[in-house]
Amino acid sequence: MPITPTDKIWMDGEFVDWADATVHVLTHTMHYGSGAFEGIRAYPTADGVAIFRLRDHIKRLFASCKVFMIEIPFSEDELVDATRELVRVNRLDDGCYIRPLVYLGYGEMGLNPIPCPVNVSIAAWPWGTYLGDDGVANGVSAKISSWKRHDPNSIPTAAKGTGMYVNSSLAKVEALKAGYDEAIMLGGDGNVSECTGENLFVVRNGRLLSPPSSDSGALEGITQKTVEKIAGDLGHETNYEPLVRSDLYTADEIFLTGTAAEVVPVRAVDDRVVGTGKPGPLTQQIQQTYFATVRGELEQYRDWLDYVG
Ligand SMILES: Cc1ncc(COP(=O)(O)O)c(C=O)c1O
Repeated sequence: MPITPTDKIWMDGEFVDWADATVHVLTHTMHYGSGAFEGIRAYPTADGVAIFRLRDHIKRLFASCKVFMIEIPFSEDELVDATRELVRVNRLDDGCYIRPLVYLGYGEMGLNPIPCPVNVSIAAWPWGTYLGDDGVANGVSAKISSWKRHDPNSIPTAAKGTGMYVNSSLAKVEALKAGYDEAIMLGGDGNVSECTGENLFVVRNGRLLSPPSSDSGALEGITQKTVEKIAGDLGHETNYEPLVRSDLYTADEIFLTGTAAEVVPVRAVDDRVVGTGKPGPLTQQIQQTYFATVRGELEQYRDWLDYVG
């Protein structure tokens, strides 16, 4: 999806002009993929633009870096403040996507990352629906990928590491080339894991199910946890249970969750129509509540909003 440039990008404590936010070709992370990032969204609300679950995303960035033994040279508070300030200086009042990145910079080569300088950048730009407006409204088609999600003992799947996304890209390209919108990956254990950048929920026989991150190697999604709470408040407990691929073929409803994708119905998996082929009732209810939540329309979920002011 194309990027719309804004005025400034935050790099290592400074706001630099968008066009000047560049790095050297010998930047360590570009060669070995050892870095971590986040994807965050801000939405317009009646009280101005608000960043959704900002603190939780910054906390996950620190957790990812801890796994990779990367010491972020800023505090959590500093990155939270910098993110708010970035949205403010770029006047992104209509909402935006925000991309904090921790990367190993220029100065060292070779596989030992420990001596490398650690750099941090945060960029933000207006970004539409990740899987398309039609996908949000009517559902997307998905293909079970021939690429498996990482084994947690090969690469730490709880971390949102930059290089790990080669796996997601392979699966995404395979699905798109085959004419589908998105890929669903199985984990090393053969059970359903997640999509290339989204977690997966299934409604079967009146129960709401999602693959357990620890077994399937799925990232523990912040949107997944948001949906778990929303669904719980709507009277639907989320059951984290292993799912096999035929559970998807016989599901009544399937939807995807992610910060970029938001809440997106799945209308078919491997050419098997899901339910009626239209977004199911629980999917629609959760999707509507999610959009109302991020836009600050629901008092009980306001604590998740970080108003830019
Ligand atoms: C592989 C993967 N799974 C799931 C998600 C959804 O996570 P979240 O809801 O925290 O954005 C993402 C996006 O960050 C992701 O990259």
